[in-house]
Amino acid sequence: MIEFEDIHKAFGAQKVLDGVSLTVSQGRIVYIIGKSGAGKSVLVKHLVGLVRQDSGRIRFEGEDITHFTERDFFGLRRRCAMVFQHSTLFDSMTLVENVALPIRRHLGATQREALEQAREKLALVDMAALSDRLPAEVGDGLRKRVAIARALTLTPRYMVFDEPTTGLDPVNAVRVDRLIRDLSDRTGVTSVVVSHDLRSIFGVADRIVMLYQGKVLLDGTPAEFRTSHDPVVRQFVTGAVEGPMAL
Ligand SMILES: Nc1ncnc2c1ncn2[C@@H]1O[C@H](COP(=O)(O)OP(=O)(O)OP(=O)(O)O)[C@@H](O)[C@H]1O
Ligand SMILES: [Mg+2]
Repeated sequence: MIEFEDIHKAFGAQKVLDGVSLTVSQGRIVYIIGKSGAGKSVLVKHLVGLVRQDSGRIRFEGEDITHFTERDFFGLRRRCAMVFQHSTLFDSMTLVENVALPIRRHLGATQREALEQAREKLALVDMAALSDRLPAEVGDGLRKRVAIARALTLTPRYMVFDEPTTGLDPVNAVRVDRLIRDLSDRTGVTSVVVSHDLRSIFGVADRIVMLYQGKVLLDGTPAEFRTSHDPVVRQFVTGAVEGPMAL
């Protein structure tokens, strides 16, 4: 379980998070939504120590990580892996070599062991058949899958995805959201997923948290989002479901 308690964060005069509290339960998939600049990335970066709160408290599996040092976070990142908004692969390495890299680096495995484990992770995201291709030889949607496989290498119990579907066409976006559901069902990993739209998450999310003006505007099930009467939520939901990008 992850608990954010009254998190405040400002950059200079700009208040980004103004008292955000939320809890992510074990085995669940929670989507954090909100428009661009709402503070979604800033919020989730607190989990891996890339952003530090001005005030408030964060607990990770009951442990208070609020005042963790860099070194403490290094250990925590094994339990909580992050797939970044602009995660990139090394162009000159094959897909399986890309996934093998953190296995060698963090687990001290031999190249052969690392490649073997990397193939297993690629199989988890249905990419086994393309393991020996170069990143340039596959499309954006498949590269994103490989980035997810790479984040899975240290068998984290928690995964944080920052906009995993941004830049993907609608078909690939739906596939990646389904993959997140599938990984959660198969491995029991707890997922926090940042997204700026609701297009394909209604069938995937267990819970949706909407950030607005530095606060949590709504924290509920997809059904509660659909039926909310809050005008800001309505605008978001109808824009996503009935807008030009709807499937
Ligand atoms: N390191 C930083 N220094 C200064 N300002 C920052 C920093 N990181 C984020 N911000 C500001 O905080 C605000 C929230 O940023 P954040 O990246 O969390 O938005 P977001 O909700 O993830 O948006 P998007 O959907 O565009 O990714 C933005 O105005 C951004 O410019
Ligand atoms: Mg962001």
